[in-house]
Amino acid sequence: MKPTTLLLSLPLTSASAILPRQSASPSIQAGALFTSSDQITSITGTFKVPHLSIPIAGPHANRKSGIYAFSIWIGIGGAPGYGVTTTCSGSAPGVLRAGIDLFYNGFDDRTMVPFAWYEGGPRSEIGPGTGAFGYAGFNVESGDLVRITVTAEGSSVDAVMENFGPVEATSGRTPVQRERPTYGLGNNVGMGQIEDHMTETEPSYPVVLSNFTQVDFKDLTVKTRSGNGNVAGAKIVNIVLPDQGGKLTDCAAVGTDGLTCRRTVE
Ligand SMILES: *[C@@H]1O[C@H](CO)[C@@H](O)[C@H](O)[C@H]1NC(C)=O
Repeated sequence: MKPTTLLLSLPLTSASAILPRQSASPSIQAGALFTSSDQITSITGTFKVPHLSIPIAGPHANRKSGIYAFSIWIGIGGAPGYGVTTTCSGSAPGVLRAGIDLFYNGFDDRTMVPFAWYEGGPRSEIGPGTGAFGYAGFNVESGDLVRITVTAEGSSVDAVMENFGPVEATSGRTPVQRERPTYGLGNNVGMGQIEDHMTETEPSYPVVLSNFTQVDFKDLTVKTRSGNGNVAGAKIVNIVLPDQGGKLTDCAAVGTDGLTCRRTVE
């Protein structure tokens, strides 16, 4: 396993869930892309699950009917494009990541139940043609502080999602809920390309990027085999979709361990 890149991102749900995978392009992901020539062994970070709404700017402004969505995830690999290799494996392309898909139901103006998921590992261990898995029984809602930690070190491959509830920081707190994959995430033999669960179960319709106002990633820590990575040196990428009004996110590094992404229409 030789992870070379890492993306903390706010992809449009389409990136991972609703658009077919071949439609995934760099312009549908936003966040910080950390690249290392060394193996990345872990990444952790927290964020507050945002409140969603229908965009009030851009070509879809105030349009009610339809589903609005996006995903927040932290992982190793899984960032196609950007002129870098994103494999999480010596041979096959792979990804190890965990995230939350968020949906807003514009038909009757309500936030839908978020879907917390993980994916990664050799296909043979997760099962052929299956894709991402939900964390069984993981309860999360807007306002909750969530910590995601993915680890790919030797035979230890893990993706832990913790919910601290509606608080501002994790320090001194134990999570309200902590879930680990129900299925094994494999080992250092290598990771196969895993398709997303929802890509296969949802119709291939693009969705409008929900208004999430702003998401702040905090306490971002990247470890490589030889030491710590520095998120401050990460490449910042943004979602750009002309059909939806142009540049839809404005992300910026904050200090050495933070990342802020605002929802924009520019
Ligand atoms: C998103 O919602 C915030 C808060 O209501 C608002 O200030 C902002 O203009 C909205 N952004 C878009 C793109 O709709």
